[in-house]
Amino acid sequence: MASTEIARQAGEGARAVPLSGHVGFDSMPDQLVNKSVNHGFCFNILCVGETGLGKSTLMDTLFNTKFEGEPTQHNQPGVTLKSNTYELQESNVRLKLTMVNTVGFGDQINKEDSYKSIVEFIDAQFEAYLQEELKIKRTLHSYHDTRIHACLYFIAPTGHSLKSLDLVTMKKLDSKVNIIPIIAKSDAISKSELAKFKIKITSELVSNGVQIYQFPTDDESVAEINSTMNSHLPFAVVGSTEEVKIGNKMVKARQYPWGTVQVENENHCDFVKLREMLIRVNMEDLREQTHTRHYELYRRCKLEEMGFKDTDPDSKPFSLQETYEAKRNEFMGELQKKEEEMRQMFVQRVKEKEAELKEAEKELHEKFDRLKKLHQDEKKKLEEKKKALDDEVNTFKQKKTAAELLLNQAQQAGGSTTLKRDKERKN
Ligand code: GTP
Ligand code: MG
Repeated sequence: MASTEIARQAGEGARAVPLSGHVGFDSMPDQLVNKSVNHGFCFNILCVGETGLGKSTLMDTLFNTKFEGEPTQHNQPGVTLKSNTYELQESNVRLKLTMVNTVGFGDQINKEDSYKSIVEFIDAQFEAYLQEELKIKRTLHSYHDTRIHACLYFIAPTGHSLKSLDLVTMKKLDSKVNIIPIIAKSDAISKSELAKFKIKITSELVSNGVQIYQFPTDDESVAEINSTMNSHLPFAVVGSTEEVKIGNKMVKARQYPWGTVQVENENHCDFVKLREMLIRVNMEDLREQTHTRHYELYRRCKLEEMGFKDTDPDSKPFSLQETYEAKRNEFMGELQKKEEEMRQMFVQRVKEKEAELKEAEKELHEKFDRLKKLHQDEKKKLEEKKKALDDEVNTFKQKKTAAELLLNQAQQAGGSTTLKRDKERKN
């Protein structure tokens, strides 16, 4: 069959034919649901926010449980990320939930690099997934996907504006993750201030070009609620796991001397909106956006960096093998060039060392000759001195012998005169 014929039948030109009875492929959606339920789901949340802003409390409130976690001290030398994975089950649906927390965020005097460890963490999860995808034997089906699906960015309830740390961090993260900004501990801010604060935050995000996650409006069934919720961003939330009796119902609330803030009361805060949007309506879209937008961007950049392209300079499709071979040749060429450079450098260094050694040897010889001459001169001088001394000694000896001789003669002469005098006295 001609290829155009196959294309026509498989593509747009396929003919619609009526069925004369029940076939059964209308169960495809159910088959999909069953498969997904059996497999279970995974969802990964990253909580970015200053120490003590209520991150853990909000997570506990959102998932109606008590996750482990100790409060962080404010003396961390840098920002680190801590990840915990939990298995949750609601009716027959299993959810593998990973919560990642920024430990020490906002606690350093110099906060310039605070975003770096967060970016690195997100990239590391993308890289792990990419490596799994590039394996020959892939196990993506059972692979624990740790890519971050939603980033809850906790804004301090200052009522003023965003801090530069918030803007810088969100700007660095917006192409890598779905950011949902939330005003934390919003019970600390009055109703009118909150409205102004929300407007201020939104305008600052827009003027700084920070792209936050927009709830999707392309699916008719959720378009209305999502577009309404988009206008409520950033959500102002309150977290609490404490239950208080209101009327005849126990509700999650925070009690103050002047009144009670009910977490799930939409007049008190946007907690319900957040839960609705994050978990009940858009969890799948967050997962999908992570894969089709953020991961895709990471993968594209990474593969382009590695030299892969879809088309050659003449806009013809590039095969993976050709790209690989071209890159390999380029790499081998560079390697050879580097090797040659290193060889040349080595030869040059050896030559330099040799010249240095020769110079040192020459200097040593000269020094030796100098010392030898000095020694000879010294020896000569000493010999001359010795000779002079020997002469002196000889002269002295001669003089001494002559003196002794004279003395003897004198003594002998003196002795005969005394004898003569004695004889004369006796007579
Ligand atoms: P680290 O993990 O140490 O960074 O703190 P965290 O961000 O997890 O904050 P955590 O949930 O431990 O809360 C810190 C304190 O804030 C606790 O005393 C909470 O009771 C309180 N808190 C939490 N949520 C809220 C809130 O919505 N409003 C108010 N007013 N206080 C809150
Ligand atoms: Mg915590």
